[in-house]
Amino acid sequence: MKKERIDKLIASQGLLSRNDVKTMVKRGEVSVNGVVIKDSSVKVSYEDDIVVNGKHLKQTEFTYIMLNKPKGVVSASEDKRDKTVVDILPDELKRKNLFPAGRLDKDTTGFCLITDDGDFAHRILSPSRHVDKTYVATVDKYIDFENARKAFKDGIVLADGTVLLSADLELLSDDDNQSFKVVIKEGKYHQVKRMFASLGTTVIELKRISIGGLVLDDNLEEGEARLLTAEELSKIENR
Ligand code: URA
Repeated sequence: MKKERIDKLIASQGLLSRNDVKTMVKRGEVSVNGVVIKDSSVKVSYEDDIVVNGKHLKQTEFTYIMLNKPKGVVSASEDKRDKTVVDILPDELKRKNLFPAGRLDKDTTGFCLITDDGDFAHRILSPSRHVDKTYVATVDKYIDFENARKAFKDGIVLADGTVLLSADLELLSDDDNQSFKVVIKEGKYHQVKRMFASLGTTVIELKRISIGGLVLDDNLEEGEARLLTAEELSKIENR
């Protein structure tokens, strides 16, 4: 059973800082399984009944975080050269074993889901589960929308012969730099960029805006992150 320091675990719920928790522990406002604790280094697990200021802490075994990924960080847990999506999380959200569920390129922005739940990540990434990923892509060279829409619908064949599942394309802006909403059902390496490349244009900006039925929170600036609520989590797999 995974155990964490109580100040860290309570702070990871996002409402109190570790210092707040330490102060409350000193004041005798925190109990574990009915016993008031006096030491905030006590280790607890998600199965313990923790009461903070009279309220039972709702604990879950796993952590699910929505990050609005900025450019320049890599979707990995560790990297020798670059900062990762896990490195840039605020301290109160950091826990052991977090990793991004699915990869975004270093220059892609938007919704990055970070978790420590391997089964969940596997489910949402599996092409057979059809959890859609939606992106906004801006391209450098004009393409004919109707042709592109049909090609995406029919299943793009990439330069290396890979045949992709059907994808949806919507035109968002037809200015000098056209932009599109793209919905894909799988996550092959550089998939969206390679899909547009097969039509002779280059993606110059790419942002993921939703995973399944859950849309990136507009209130999160690039680089900001927060925990998902249980309701939000359920929207990922249920549309
Ligand atoms: N497709 C890409 O080409 N890049 C990403 O980061 C995500 C999807």
